Amino acid sequence: MSQKTWGGRFETSTDRRVEEFTESISFDRRLYSHDIKASQAHAAMLAEIGLITAAEAQQLHSALEAIEEEIRLGQFVFSTAQEDIHTHIEQALIQRLGDLGRKLHTGRSRNDQVVTDLKLWLRDAAAETDRLLLTLQKAYLGAARRYHDLILPGYTHLQRAQPVLASHYFLAYVEKFQRDRERIASAQRRADTLPLGTAALAGTSIPVNRDRVRVLLGFGSLARNSLDVSSDRDFVLDYVYALTMIALHLSGWAEEWVIWSTTEFGFLDLPDAFCTGSSIMPQKKNPDVLELTRARAGRAVGALSQLLVLVKGLPLAYNRDLQEDKLALFAAHDSVTASLDLAAPIVEGARFRRDVIEARLEDGFLDATTLMEAMVLHGLPMRSAHEAVGRLVRLCEQRRCRLRDLRPEEFDQFAPGFSGKVYGVLGVKNALAAFRSSGSTAPEEVDRQLNYWEQRLNA
Ligand code: ARG
Repeated sequence: MSQKTWGGRFETSTDRRVEEFTESISFDRRLYSHDIKASQAHAAMLAEIGLITAAEAQQLHSALEAIEEEIRLGQFVFSTAQEDIHTHIEQALIQRLGDLGRKLHTGRSRNDQVVTDLKLWLRDAAAETDRLLLTLQKAYLGAARRYHDLILPGYTHLQRAQPVLASHYFLAYVEKFQRDRERIASAQRRADTLPLGTAALAGTSIPVNRDRVRVLLGFGSLARNSLDVSSDRDFVLDYVYALTMIALHLSGWAEEWVIWSTTEFGFLDLPDAFCTGSSIMPQKKNPDVLELTRARAGRAVGALSQLLVLVKGLPLAYNRDLQEDKLALFAAHDSVTASLDLAAPIVEGARFRRDVIEARLEDGFLDATTLMEAMVLHGLPMRSAHEAVGRLVRLCEQRRCRLRDLRPEEFDQFAPGFSGKVYGVLGVKNALAAFRSSGSTAPEEVDRQLNYWEQRLNA
């Protein structure tokens, strides 16, 4: 039977089922290097305030380093009897150093220790997510350059609406992922206050120097209120929310490309290396990665709901419920980063079929709205122009023709004299060239934005 760090108060040993029910070592071992880093800083501070000697701090530092190496190499023995990563490391230290190991937890509690570990972990995790987001943004930007002159049908309700430049389409995703990066950065900022030294809930009578630990661990500030910080998991929720938004953005894109890669659409070919086949139908090339990306948004949403319910109704300060935060946090992070990692090469490797897209570009009256706007600029009230173009579209559907196939007098009946300019705005290319507003798909506007993103992302 192994020793509990809190065994003194107990007469009998813990029921095996309780050990198994309450353990978190199966998932929080992932925090080991952050736990060790925090302990090293704590030990250095204990020496500076004279509670251990400088030589002892050095001994603790080296022993912690050795333990880290053992865990890294897979040689460390974990046991559910030792609850969590914090007790595992402390016990290993005591085994190696005896009484000196028993001094490390001075002025500290697992409650401030675990939040510190989590914040350190999240700092790295968020940096990884940000890197992946940047790589994906660059992939979209590359596609925006590659397909600079391609015009796509833009959709609302998945019905053809207005033409957009392919570059405009790709940059729309660059924008979404930029907002995601801002959300990630904001979660990172929320995690930038040091909990360590607030101990279990009320602080400590040991004269700890929290600011020294803050500097050693590189936190921006000290958590002000011990009662708050030991129970605070807002930063975890912020990060998982940010991850969920990424997952939702990815799921929309994945759905779009599942549709666009069908024979019915035929807009694009997905890269072979990122598709899978069928065990019975030899011709198949399936977009499984996109489908799973779409599906895995469910994991992030699930993790976020789990966390929201987890913190609901928790009284101050620490409650054991909080231990489960890590399951949701890790699940969301792993699932979203795995999807991000695959999204970039898919965007890079997808080939748009210009011929198919262009052959059908004049279908669906993509020029109808700019036609209406041209009538408005010609002097018609907007509602009358809307009605007129609606009627013209109906006429075209009866005749199975395009708007530009209509006769001059068919335009002039609604707006006298309009036929002189109308053919200059009809057809998808003309319609596209007619856009004016900032943020629109007007070619100059899109070029301006391309340049903006190129400078910003390559800075
Ligand atoms: N394993 C615990 C967790 O992850 C560490 C804190 C335990 N504190 C306590 N008072 N039991 O939350």
